[in-house]
Amino acid sequence: MIKFLKDIDTKEKKVLLRVDYNVPMKDGKITNTKKIDDSLKTIDYLVKQKAKIIILSHFGRVKTEEDKNANSLKPIFDYLKSLDKYNILFSATPMGEMLDTMARTLEPGQLVLVENTRFMDLEGNLESDCDTQLAMYWADLADVYIDDAFGSMHRNHASITGIPKYIPSAVGLLVQEEIEHLRPLITEPESPFVVIMGGAKLDDKIELIYSLAEKADHILLGGGIANTFLRALGYDLGSSLVSTNALQTARAIIQEFKDKILLPRDVITSPSYSDDIYELKKIEDIVPDDVVGDIGAKAIENYKKFIEKAKTIFINGTVGMYEQKPFSNGTQEILRLVSESDAKKIVGGGDAGAAIEKFKYQKKMDFVSTGGGSTLYYIANHSLPGLDVIGTKNEENID
Ligand code: 3PG
Repeated sequence: MIKFLKDIDTKEKKVLLRVDYNVPMKDGKITNTKKIDDSLKTIDYLVKQKAKIIILSHFGRVKTEEDKNANSLKPIFDYLKSLDKYNILFSATPMGEMLDTMARTLEPGQLVLVENTRFMDLEGNLESDCDTQLAMYWADLADVYIDDAFGSMHRNHASITGIPKYIPSAVGLLVQEEIEHLRPLITEPESPFVVIMGGAKLDDKIELIYSLAEKADHILLGGGIANTFLRALGYDLGSSLVSTNALQTARAIIQEFKDKILLPRDVITSPSYSDDIYELKKIEDIVPDDVVGDIGAKAIENYKKFIEKAKTIFINGTVGMYEQKPFSNGTQEILRLVSESDAKKIVGGGDAGAAIEKFKYQKKMDFVSTGGGSTLYYIANHSLPGLDVIGTKNEENID
């Protein structure tokens, strides 16, 4: 049974709170604060409990020293401070004296936001390979661990699956809400169950499409994912984004679930993602310079038939590069069609969530998750690595 925030004693305790503050950022400015805003319920609860709160999050990928600048959590600290309701400090390192001192001297109701946990990947992938020593170091800072990082719970990382092995843990209010809304998709999604998938991160998603194809009645594809499936079918996609690692699995999925997988027959292309030169083309007319940026009118028309009949719709990713004007139509139209449907409409976060906000369809959806990959993982596997470890160390069995 999952342990929730209110099932665990946090009163005046030192609490390690893992959140997912991996928010969209441009030129050092946060462009969408949903993940942060949705985490405040848990923070407010803990402040009321007079807990001493140590907040951990990752941000982006940190492979070199230079990556540190662009991936600092400092802009997020500034945002939290600007809300003018928290007594909050910033630890500029995720490990070491500064953090130790802050953690030791925190006052009841005070918070410290710790610098990006993935800075520890520079020491030998310690965070991303779930290093035991690192997990134990963080666990030693606190009495209790609360995971409210729904968007990252599919990762087997030290700050997600490592820490709860050593101190009592529970999930936060954001995770609780996510689970409550996503569970119906797992138990009995009303049929026809239509999944709309797009985006670029196919290497992460390909195995999950396999599991989803068993549950869904139709899977409508766009974006880099559709490109990869089209290439697997033998089409030349020119210079478009294709995930070569995923080609073999894509072929196997098509073979097994041929009638469920729908692909665009036409697309919007441009040479080198240009805003000025773009063209509607049939898949078979793509030439070597072409980059596919969106699905075409025939594809939208075809997908419309399935969306209109659906009783449950799950969206993950976008069918085109909607941030660029010539490529925004497919995403906008698909979201409009979904918003007009009577189906239960659940949206995985990430790009799909951001597109829904941009085109102002949030209110028409039943639920917009803060997770992208994690939502998909949860629906495909009925659990998450970060969820499975919660509550493994009870308050009674602390050494
Ligand atoms: C996300 O934004 O999808 C989550 O924060 C996970 O990020 P990751 O793909 O870098 O692990």
